[in-house]
Amino acid sequence: MSSHLHVLGFAGSLRQGSYNRALLRAAIELAPNILEISTFDLAPIPLYNQDIEDKGFPEPVKKFKQAIAEADALLICTPEYNFSIPGVLKNALDWASRPAKSTPLSKKPVSIMGASTGAFGTARCQLALRSVFTFCNMRPVNTPQVLVTHAADKFDENGTLIDEPTKNIIKENLNELVTLTLILQKGKAALPR
Ligand code: FNR
Repeated sequence: MSSHLHVLGFAGSLRQGSYNRALLRAAIELAPNILEISTFDLAPIPLYNQDIEDKGFPEPVKKFKQAIAEADALLICTPEYNFSIPGVLKNALDWASRPAKSTPLSKKPVSIMGASTGAFGTARCQLALRSVFTFCNMRPVNTPQVLVTHAADKFDENGTLIDEPTKNIIKENLNELVTLTLILQKGKAALPR
């Protein structure tokens, strides 16, 4: 077994100056040594269409599913759109959830973090994501929640996170992700063969 836990991180915003892409970069910087976080860009993933799935998964989707399968855990940094999950992220999760019987999302530990320019820091989106996680049989970190409110005040003009309490909550959340991932891996190893 590797001495590191490999985490796949992706952002629910494609915007160049995205706060959530900046949040993902901050999480990579602040992660404990045991975590190795690599990132996946959701931009090349096409819109889900079952006719396409029936003919074979598109190359970007194959790569995304493979990256999820190889990861010990996932980290999703996402904005909230209209009180819910941005289409880019939901679409990517919909592809990854197929076929339901062999989705690489199943039993995958996952942390959510979110930044919004408003006062609720993506709370409603995160709640909606948890429903998706339930259907996909995923293992989310429940607490602490990383809800970055008023994002314009928390990042500088270069997209660097400058808010100490936010840095601390990110560290706490990632420590929980480590604990949860290790507990699940230990439990699996202890099962009778
Ligand atoms: C938003 N925004 C937003 N904010 C929020 O707190 N709750 C919401 O429901 C919404 N809804 C919403 C819908 C759409 C279509 C857009 C484009 C934006 C504002 C949002 O928090 C802000 O634009 C963030 O900067 C988006 O995240 P990124 O792109 O900076 O990562």
